[in-house]
Amino acid sequence: MKCDQPRAGIVGLGTYVPERVLTNEELQQMVDTSDEWIRARTGIRERRVASPDEAASDLALVACQRALEDAGIGPDEIDLIIAATNTPDMLFPATACLLQDRIGAAGAGAFDLLAGCTGFIYGVAVGAQFITAGAARTVLVVGAEALTRIINWQDRNTCVLFGDGAGAVVLREVPGDRGILSTVLGADGSGARHLYMPAGGSRLPASAETVAKGLHYVHMNGREVFKFAVRAMEDGAREVLRRAGLTGADVDFLIPHQANIRIIEHAAKKMNLPMDRVAVNVDRYGNTSTASIPLALEESVKKGKIKDGDNVVMVGFGAGLTWAGLLIRWYDYKK
Ligand code: ACO
Repeated sequence: MKCDQPRAGIVGLGTYVPERVLTNEELQQMVDTSDEWIRARTGIRERRVASPDEAASDLALVACQRALEDAGIGPDEIDLIIAATNTPDMLFPATACLLQDRIGAAGAGAFDLLAGCTGFIYGVAVGAQFITAGAARTVLVVGAEALTRIINWQDRNTCVLFGDGAGAVVLREVPGDRGILSTVLGADGSGARHLYMPAGGSRLPASAETVAKGLHYVHMNGREVFKFAVRAMEDGAREVLRRAGLTGADVDFLIPHQANIRIIEHAAKKMNLPMDRVAVNVDRYGNTSTASIPLALEESVKKGKIKDGDNVVMVGFGAGLTWAGLLIRWYDYKK
């Protein structure tokens, strides 16, 4: 990016997780698993579960309202809403449109973005382009998931991994050398079969048979996704740094997608970063998909782990298969 171009950055953060905590101990009563296995193989201790009356847009709404409040921005100032989700309220209309109405962002464009767990980084990368191109002044990006709705609670390979939550950011032009320095978006559709929901779309519409066969649940080949993930995290981080003309030594903090502590630790090791400079919340929330990075980001900012001027790398992977990286020089919008 040329230096005379405006740079987009984050000027507001907000998150929300449902109250209900589901522990590994409870899962032991539901499927053939153990707290020990889950902690050792994934690092997860507990996750949040949306209440029966909470859909993705309900979680997203609170996160968005908090992000707007944090930014000190009114809903009428939003030009565009991007909702990254794998669990929209409905196949259509877009969850972003439901949010646009409920937030009161009359006049804002709104669309959903589907890129698996990588959706949040994809959304921020897309939103930032609108700002640098001068096509929008304020963009709201939210990652929100009610993943526990599409989980087969009898499948121990998947049901222990996922949780619900939402995280939103407000993007605007930021001053000086702060803001998003580089992004990289990647996909390998040949791996689509490793993580997918077979029924409910136009390929296999919902029917009594698809429901009876459990085809409306997440189907995953964990080992293949794992192999892809470790490679994608490493490549994503390396590529965003290369694009910005920086190296691993310039990185102050890493926010990896929170799917599995072993994948996170691998990424940290490859970047030579000690774990105190890496965001981890997978232990408390499990894999919240598109919400995982904004949840981890807000927590890190609140704990004072990310300071003005820090180079922060976000990397993720997910269904698609997709992967993405984003490098941001943190702008302390509170100072
Ligand atoms: N409890 C007890 N045993 C289990 C459980 C469980 N919850 N789950 C699997 N096992 C068993 C398996 O059945 C297998 O038994 P077997 O050898 O008798 O067949 C054994 O444990 C080992 O299975 P592996 O798949 O080799 O276990 P692994 O150590 O690879 O861990 C895991 C599995 C955690 C799923 C891992 O592969 C992983 O994290 N993969 C990435 C998944 C991921 O990140 N998905 C989300 C992507 S993001 C998105 O877009 C949603």
